[in-house]
Amino acid sequence: MKKGFDWGAYLAAFHAARPGITEEVLSRTLSGGHTSYRWLARAVSPRAQVVVDLACGSGAMGRELALADRTVLGVDLAESELRLADARGDGPFICADALNLPLADASVDAVVSSMGAVVIQPARALFTEVGRVLKPGGIFAFTAPTVLPLHPRDFATSLGVVTRLRSLPRFPGPTEVTGYVDALVGTGLRKVEDARERYHFEVSSPEDAELIVGALYLPTTSQKRRDAAVNWLVDRTIKEGPVRISIAMRRFVVLKQPVATRDAEL
Ligand SMILES: C[S@@+](CC[C@H](N)C(=O)[O-])C[C@H]1O[C@@H](n2cnc3c(N)ncnc32)[C@H](O)[C@@H]1O
Repeated sequence: MKKGFDWGAYLAAFHAARPGITEEVLSRTLSGGHTSYRWLARAVSPRAQVVVDLACGSGAMGRELALADRTVLGVDLAESELRLADARGDGPFICADALNLPLADASVDAVVSSMGAVVIQPARALFTEVGRVLKPGGIFAFTAPTVLPLHPRDFATSLGVVTRLRSLPRFPGPTEVTGYVDALVGTGLRKVEDARERYHFEVSSPEDAELIVGALYLPTTSQKRRDAAVNWLVDRTIKEGPVRISIAMRRFVVLKQPVATRDAEL
């Protein structure tokens, strides 16, 4: 892939053409009957009253986090996604860049992002901006795709898809993200959790195969190769019944250092 690839333009065109597709896939990608949205929401204290959902897409996280006395502000760059979010949930929603939030310093209790940290880059700029708007003691929790803890048998289906695509799905940022901890240095944030979980998406129809392949960022892949991947999945469902695609997720939680109290200093 060429250096200097315009990810901003690619993501804008992708989400304008397919609003809601991430939610469509993730709301059916389950572990023990639950989604990664539910897992991410569990990282947020019920006491958090003002929560920001960065790269909110069609607003699934906001609905997962909804509480009577809580405001969840959804932020995204794609108008098409925000229109869906607004139709499906309470909001408020704003069209803004996560790296330049129209929010006051130390004004929010928690920030979340489902699959946002792999697209909002560079990571240090993201952490710096999140650290600015979080109140001391507030957390930033996000999910990102990962490879571990997939079992070797999980790779067979993914490998079949990737072989037909002749390319790997890509993100603007690294996914097996060794860099996240380094990017925290100097931002006032520190890691408090880095957990991993396996999820599964079941393909049992041609529509499911189209959906999962259509949800991948594949900036260098031709339509012919995508069709080949879809057809391969459809053939497998005809021969073997439903096919399970495993998706490993990482939940990362960082904390903005609380202001040191007098007692703590003594
Ligand atoms: C993979 S989707 C995740 C959507 C949603 N969080 C979910 O999990 O259903 C990534 C989203 O990031 C948004 N996005 C990309 N860059 C952004 C930025 N700099 N600021 C805000 N949103 C951004 C895209 O418009 C897209 O809606």
